[in-house]
Amino acid sequence: MLEAMVHSGGPERPERDERPAHVPVLPTEVLAGLVGGDPARLEGWIVDGTLGLGGHTALVLEACPNVRVLGVDRDDDALAMARERLAPFADRVRLRKGHLAGLARTIRKERIGRPVGALFDLGVSSMQLDRPERGFSFLDDGPLDMRMDRSIERTAADIVNEWDESDLADLFYYEGDETRSRKVAAAIVAARRRVPFQRTAALADLIANTLGGGGRVHPATKCFQALRRAVNEEGEELLRGLDAAEHWLADGGRLAVISFHSGEDREVKRFLQQGVRGGRWDVLTKKPISAGEDERRRNRRSRSARLRVAVRKRPDLDHASPSSRGTEESR
Ligand SMILES: C[S@@+](CC[C@H](N)C(=O)[O-])C[C@H]1O[C@@H](n2cnc3c(N)ncnc32)[C@H](O)[C@@H]1O
Repeated sequence: MLEAMVHSGGPERPERDERPAHVPVLPTEVLAGLVGGDPARLEGWIVDGTLGLGGHTALVLEACPNVRVLGVDRDDDALAMARERLAPFADRVRLRKGHLAGLARTIRKERIGRPVGALFDLGVSSMQLDRPERGFSFLDDGPLDMRMDRSIERTAADIVNEWDESDLADLFYYEGDETRSRKVAAAIVAARRRVPFQRTAALADLIANTLGGGGRVHPATKCFQALRRAVNEEGEELLRGLDAAEHWLADGGRLAVISFHSGEDREVKRFLQQGVRGGRWDVLTKKPISAGEDERRRNRRSRSARLRVAVRKRPDLDHASPSSRGTEESR
């Protein structure tokens, strides 16, 4: 499954200004998964580890009057937009720049105790995809960037211009499921000897010319996804985010993870299966939840979304506040 898989060109694509900045996927299912019962009775903190434009967080805050949200994102633009959107809930929301790999530390630093829920809605937002200057999209020309956090150094151009051919081929194969990865890598290495890649359109055109096109899926989709995952180290980020949720969630706390990439969903499944075997998690979604026909029609992005929900079990916990638990605090 691939994010942004389908050409959004053509008659169905609305003008840029008409497009909503980002529509949260599986809204009802995410809320039900995180809350689990009567939203009015849920109390405590929920951590939104991939805040984006705050769509899911707004739904949670609207439905649960006694819940507060710690919203974290690594993208400054997203945080600024979320801050505006969540202004009506300012007294119940705390927004911080951070990333999943540092989530355990963020939760400890914010001294919010053990959250009753955590949400990871992985990948990029429509806002990031729709801004050519961010360099995520093969549909509009922009710098070959793809950094969610623009304070990190390595961009997609660095990878495309510097990695060995075999490393590029492996990246496209393993992180993008591109079966013709060797062909693409060879074409990139031949082309960059003449002129290094700096723009998204040059790379998208080269891939399209190498692989041919014509289908509904843009031929550069898979390689762009693989590059984005490498630039933002998304595999490692996810695993460390899952560890943070396992470490910090309260007894009965709920974890909801939405992935858009089959490898990512496999990692979530594997992590939870191990947790079930270890008595740490109850999985509520034997199979991942996908969007229904109606949502798929209204929101293209939802087509590849897969939601898994699990409940943290901590018979070990004496319900003392985490700040009084020395060893766990040291994480
Ligand atoms: C799909 S969007 C989330 C949309 C959000 N749920 C909403 O309804 O508006 C994903 C967001 O997560 C952020 N993100 C992705 N990976 C991240 C990571 N490892 N750490 C922190 N933020 C991350 C991206 O910058 C993006 O803003």
